[in-house]
Amino acid sequence: MGRLKGKVAIVTGAGRGLGKGIALKLAEEGAKVVVSDMLEADAAACVEEIKAAGGEAVAILANVAKLEDVEALFQGTIDAFGRVDTVVNNAGINRDGMLHKMSDEQWDSVIAVNLSGTFYVTREATKHLRAQKSGAIINISSMSWMGNLGQANYAASKAGVVGLTMTAARELARNHVTANVICPGFIETDMTRGMTEDGWNMMIGKVPMGYAGKPSDVGNLVAFLASDDAKYITGQVIEVSGGMII
Ligand code: NAI
Repeated sequence: MGRLKGKVAIVTGAGRGLGKGIALKLAEEGAKVVVSDMLEADAAACVEEIKAAGGEAVAILANVAKLEDVEALFQGTIDAFGRVDTVVNNAGINRDGMLHKMSDEQWDSVIAVNLSGTFYVTREATKHLRAQKSGAIINISSMSWMGNLGQANYAASKAGVVGLTMTAARELARNHVTANVICPGFIETDMTRGMTEDGWNMMIGKVPMGYAGKPSDVGNLVAFLASDDAKYITGQVIEVSGGMII
């Protein structure tokens, strides 16, 4: 469709899963995409797939939990494409366990990637987007932000992402920069394929549409929020979940 022509997008955790689906969709819509991940081979493969389809992309390796990596990611983006318009905070991990058994390491690692990582990237994005008075920040949270069995760390990190994004939306509105949250429900990726069959079936049972979503289902919404069609939409939490909460 080309509605993102001329825009430059950074997607974190874009080597596989949801992030890859988002990167492919943004490129299909004409954006130049920075495919960022810690997995070098996966990031390179995603870039190749985009190029093979006629799009433009580069891979920049970054651990979002490391501030110096995040700073280098933005510098690398400017060096490669000269600007940044869309920033998608997708990188995320889970380390599930019931609260009474959750270790400090489980807690700290999930908060470091999902919340502090999103903060570092959003803060860096804000510096660029404020100055240029345009842009879109799209943060991937989860339906679990409202609480989920065995996911105290993950839910806390994803609820934190909602608060962080709402604040960004308020602070950036006057600069014509939008900030929105997407809450995917149950999407088929490596993260969810690692579940037991019982766990998988239990999750499908919670989806009124009766099946798991695809990364492209989330990518379609990201592409819309990144486009000028969504320039008056900010501070929203939007579910892509096959109707999990109706
Ligand atoms: P995934 O595990 O398949 O892919 C995550 C990607 O993020 C991987 O490529 C990984 O290398 C990268 N990553 C992990 N830690 C990183 C770090 N510190 N720095 C940079 N990259 C890092 O996971 P999936 O399912 O694609 O999830 C993507 C996002 O969507 C996550 O934030 C997750 O919490 C969220 N989500 C996923 C749902 C699902 O059903 N799959 C549901 C709701 C939210």
